[in-house]
Amino acid sequence: MEEKRHVAVVDFGSQYAQLIVRRVRELGFFAKLYPLEEFAAMGEPGAIILSGGPKSTSEPDAPDIDFERLQSYGVPVLGVCYGMQLLNIKFGGSVEASDRREYGPAMLVPAEATGLYEGISHESQVWMSHSDTVQDLPDGAEVIARNQHGTAVSLKWGERFFGIQFHPEVTHSHEGLRILHNFLLQADGLQEFRIEDFKREMLEGIRRDVGDRQVVCGVSGGVDSTVLAVLLHEAGVKMRAIFVDHGLLRKDEGDEVRNNFHRMGVEIETVEAADLFLGKLAGVDDPEKKREIIGNLFIDVFWDSVGDAELLAQGTLYPDVIESASNASSKASKIKTHHNRVDRILELQAQGKVLEPLSELFKDEVRALGMSLGIPHDIVHRHPFPGPGLAVRCPGAIEAKKLEIIRESDAIFISRLKDHNWYDKVWQAYAALVPVKTVGVKGDERSYEWAVSLRAVVSEDAMTADWVELPYAILRETSHRILNEVPGVNRVLYDVSTKPPASIEWE
Ligand code: XMP
Repeated sequence: MEEKRHVAVVDFGSQYAQLIVRRVRELGFFAKLYPLEEFAAMGEPGAIILSGGPKSTSEPDAPDIDFERLQSYGVPVLGVCYGMQLLNIKFGGSVEASDRREYGPAMLVPAEATGLYEGISHESQVWMSHSDTVQDLPDGAEVIARNQHGTAVSLKWGERFFGIQFHPEVTHSHEGLRILHNFLLQADGLQEFRIEDFKREMLEGIRRDVGDRQVVCGVSGGVDSTVLAVLLHEAGVKMRAIFVDHGLLRKDEGDEVRNNFHRMGVEIETVEAADLFLGKLAGVDDPEKKREIIGNLFIDVFWDSVGDAELLAQGTLYPDVIESASNASSKASKIKTHHNRVDRILELQAQGKVLEPLSELFKDEVRALGMSLGIPHDIVHRHPFPGPGLAVRCPGAIEAKKLEIIRESDAIFISRLKDHNWYDKVWQAYAALVPVKTVGVKGDERSYEWAVSLRAVVSEDAMTADWVELPYAILRETSHRILNEVPGVNRVLYDVSTKPPASIEWE
């Protein structure tokens, strides 16, 4: 999408920077995240938000900003947390460094219910996560809100520059969205964010980029690749959609995927490669090694079946782009290798053979796009499923017997969630095998069998996740059925771990 009069969010390394972008889009305006290094190339933003960050402004290598350039944009600027402290220094004030962290709720008391705080309660809960605080204010600075102890937590410098110590983007800041909206109202002619406009631009972009070349895309049945394939189909370009069955799919998944595409009028080709994948994975128990084997083999198998197609389309989303950009500038540590970012793809990318039409969208925006393309609700709202499939739900070496246990247990769990109307309330749910044998009793016999762990989480774009308080009746029914119907299992557990520190998948 064009970048005229958009909201530019400058990333100082905050874990919440992406969330600011999402919130601005939720408010109906187009926003983009920029690493600090790209600050000079933001086009013509209509408003600028400086994110928080993990550093203290007093540290020698604290990230800095070209203040003259920032002023030269001539648009409203909001500094959040670190962003506010930096602005205060730039305007000639000071910041007090501290190693004591304030983390959690605080009360916001606006000086006046105008401007940033138009319509905001006299006392409103906000979320704090900072160590340093502003100390001396420069001439002309104004305190526009304090906390319950009278400490300044929001400043205004002149007419266009605002600062807030708290995080408006997290839901714990009860009126945060309204405060962000009030800030955006200070800007003129901001570009609106509408999925229909995006769709039109994407279709035009695809037709332009592809021309009469042959484009190939991989489909997995997941939301992203399905939306991508339907988008390419809608654009009317020459395309082939390839579905690789790597033998790590859920129960009956292959047939379901084929039926779904058939319903939507898109023809797909299936490559049966289960034996190949399971053969290469035999005896491999290291999680990263397993991912690497699957990722590379996937590309090989896929590319073999591609033949002489000239372009590869991928369903890469905005968070993947941001994550790999920040990995590149080493602000975030590598947690897992996501399979669409392995070296082979990077090589293709360098040759200009990769098309990523969804790369400006967040997951919920892809869902909205899917709906506007007429993709049925059950497909658009399908839970995410990882590229490496059941491999990441089968810790240790993969064996056919273990996969069978996962498939059967998972099918029971998901069917219980659907029957009790919990599937749509949960962001992602699945069964994993715990590769530990424990003692039990079955009939009159001693048993020595595996355990199965159930996981159901809610999340926003998978960055963080919380486990779901499912009704005991569902857990009881699921456990009862797994213990009775799935051979080889004598114990069922429910995973009550948040992310962080756990991840959503087991590997
Ligand atoms: P984690 O386990 O990292 O998972 O908390 C976050 C989300 O990402 C999915 N996931 C993947 N998706 N390729 C994918 O396409 C992968 O390699 C991969 N690994 C994890 C996971 O299911 C969850 O939704």
